[in-house]
Amino acid sequence: MSSTLPFFPQSASTVAADVDLLYFFILAVSAFFAVAVSIAVLAFAIKYRRKNRNDIGADIHGSLTLELIWTGIPFVLAMIMFVWGAQVFFTLSKPPADAMDIFVVGKQWMWKAQHPEGVREINELHIPLGRPVRLTMGSEDVIHDFFIPAFRVKMDVVPGKLTTEWFTATKVGEYHIFCAEYCGTKHSGMIGQVIVMTPQDYEGWLAGGRSTGTAVQNGERLFTDLACVTCHKPDSTGRGPSLLGVFGSTVPLTDGRKVVADENYLRESIMNSQAKVVAGYQPIMPTFQGMVTEENLMQLIAYIKTLKPAAPGDAGGGGASAPSDRM
Ligand code: CUA
Repeated sequence: MSSTLPFFPQSASTVAADVDLLYFFILAVSAFFAVAVSIAVLAFAIKYRRKNRNDIGADIHGSLTLELIWTGIPFVLAMIMFVWGAQVFFTLSKPPADAMDIFVVGKQWMWKAQHPEGVREINELHIPLGRPVRLTMGSEDVIHDFFIPAFRVKMDVVPGKLTTEWFTATKVGEYHIFCAEYCGTKHSGMIGQVIVMTPQDYEGWLAGGRSTGTAVQNGERLFTDLACVTCHKPDSTGRGPSLLGVFGSTVPLTDGRKVVADENYLRESIMNSQAKVVAGYQPIMPTFQGMVTEENLMQLIAYIKTLKPAAPGDAGGGGASAPSDRM
């Protein structure tokens, strides 16, 4: 804990300083004007008070100079806050490409995490120091919010969709995880610890954890168990589109729209399969709502992300000529 400002959370991520600086700037501007206005109110109340019963206030007409000043200064200040805030916001919303993926599921009233190597934990999140971590988060019931004050990151965890947040820890230690969205009687108990470890310690911790297969392996198994493979054949001869290279591609739909196949598109296509049907295919896919858990979903998505079309020149004709958005 910082000894100077014990009511302020520690800073333990790469974005913490940026968020704090912006926060203090806005606080300083607000404080300055609050004090300035209060002093002016007091001073004017004394200086221009009615000194005898017959005083009548002077009629004041507009001043263009004054109006320009009191429009111009707030405009500039507001634009500084906007541009600066947008920069911080974009930093916070764009995880680096090399970030490691951890899946988080919120439910009443606990946080479940799954590491790429398959190790799981509850209400604890072990992460390596200095490495970008991207959380992909889903909820099994109501809206929660994954908040790590020391990292200055906070994101709603919403049923029916996936949200993400990312951070790079800069200090070894243990930090609070809070649920920051009221979610029922034990909302205040929906807490946990982020444990930041040196990369060596993290590897050691991972090796000591029990893994039930990596997320990708589990996803691959589910892909077979749920019979996805029978329709989504890699060579496009199935009743459903091939999923090779689908992640990140632009998919044409039967209604003429085009959508980018991100995590939420894959999620929706599994849970609500009739919502967006790929052009050229029949709406015959069953919904898997209620059959797969949020964790299963994230494993399936992790697996689908690894499906890449064969490089041109590899055996398997047709792949090279078909643009990726037909998959
Ligand atoms: Cu979960 Cu509040």
